[in-house]
Amino acid sequence: MKMYYNWEKMTNTEELRVVCNLIRNGEIIIFPTETVYGIGANALDANAVGKIFAAKGRPSDNPLIVHLADRNKIQEVAQDITEVEQELIDNFMPGPFTLILKRKPIIPDIVTAGLDTVAIRIPENIIAKGIITYSGVPIAAPSANISGKPSGTKIEDIRKELEGKVSAIVDGGETKIGIESTVVKVIDEVPVVLRPGKITPEQIDAVIGRVRIDKNILGTLNKDEVAESPGMKYKHYAPETSCKLVYCKDELDQIFYLKKFIKQYDGDVVVIGVEEHKEKLFLDDQRFISVGKKDNLEDYARNIFSALRKADQIKSSKIIIEGVKMEGLGYAIMNRLIRTCEHDFFEKQ
Ligand code: TXA
Ligand code: MG
Repeated sequence: MKMYYNWEKMTNTEELRVVCNLIRNGEIIIFPTETVYGIGANALDANAVGKIFAAKGRPSDNPLIVHLADRNKIQEVAQDITEVEQELIDNFMPGPFTLILKRKPIIPDIVTAGLDTVAIRIPENIIAKGIITYSGVPIAAPSANISGKPSGTKIEDIRKELEGKVSAIVDGGETKIGIESTVVKVIDEVPVVLRPGKITPEQIDAVIGRVRIDKNILGTLNKDEVAESPGMKYKHYAPETSCKLVYCKDELDQIFYLKKFIKQYDGDVVVIGVEEHKEKLFLDDQRFISVGKKDNLEDYARNIFSALRKADQIKSSKIIIEGVKMEGLGYAIMNRLIRTCEHDFFEKQ
């Protein structure tokens, strides 16, 4: 049976019917969203959702996000929605935003890892929207990658990792944003960011008048601490090659320290960084992967996961990654990179 569908230019309605039937029949598929690709299954079918955990090698205590076609569907899977939650829904959904709500019993335990809450997202990507709408069921979907690896933003990266483990792959081209959605839970009427993303704390504050950032976002959890979001305690976004993150506020310092670390590994490194630095570091295309122009955080976010995979293929002693200023989208990027580098982070403010 056909397995790969290219809808980059246009969704094929006949094929859409086939793919949606797979979902309804309890199969799992890879599909694009505006953030990253997802591996989706009918969220109401525990057996189908089990296939996602198996394909990713995902720990069973890490819950999945339930994707809906529009806001009207929220009350079918969640209940007791508060005023603050409703305001967040009205302002940020559809979009790259996930809200943790009190769950309804219709959602099987395997989706929420037994929690009494459920994560809800309404993607704005037209292919995602089409698949959810015509499947007629909510779709549980984590990012399309083997657990612990960078999220999938391009089909060629994802195929290498997951081909043969799913029933269909829908290609919608490179994902627009490139890092996963902002995850928020309202606690005592305060929106708390559990995972930063394209929707920034500043934007949430502008709407609600208050916002908090979970203290575990940039740090590590203590062994006995219970995470507000179970995903926080796992290794994430990490290639096989060990990585080092470098960020100096001053441009000259940045070049100085990058050179120093390159030398430390006798040049057997791959640098992931901004285009302008390639020549300053005297590196060729094998040793330097560009994530775009300096200060263009949108390009950085879009390119970073694919760059990590590319760098990993070179099998060097170290991948050295240029960090960015921790504000706005930069905060979300650094949240991912600190995990990629397992806290091997050199910083000079
Ligand atoms: O952009 C995205 O969010 C992508 C696309 C495919 O929608 N999905 C995604 O899913 O990144 P995943 O599974 O890779 O990350 C979901 C995160 C995990 O860190 C998980 O622990 C957290 O959301 N999460 C899910 N349900 C939760 C819940 N009920 N309470 C707290 N955290 C939850
Ligand atoms: Mg993920």
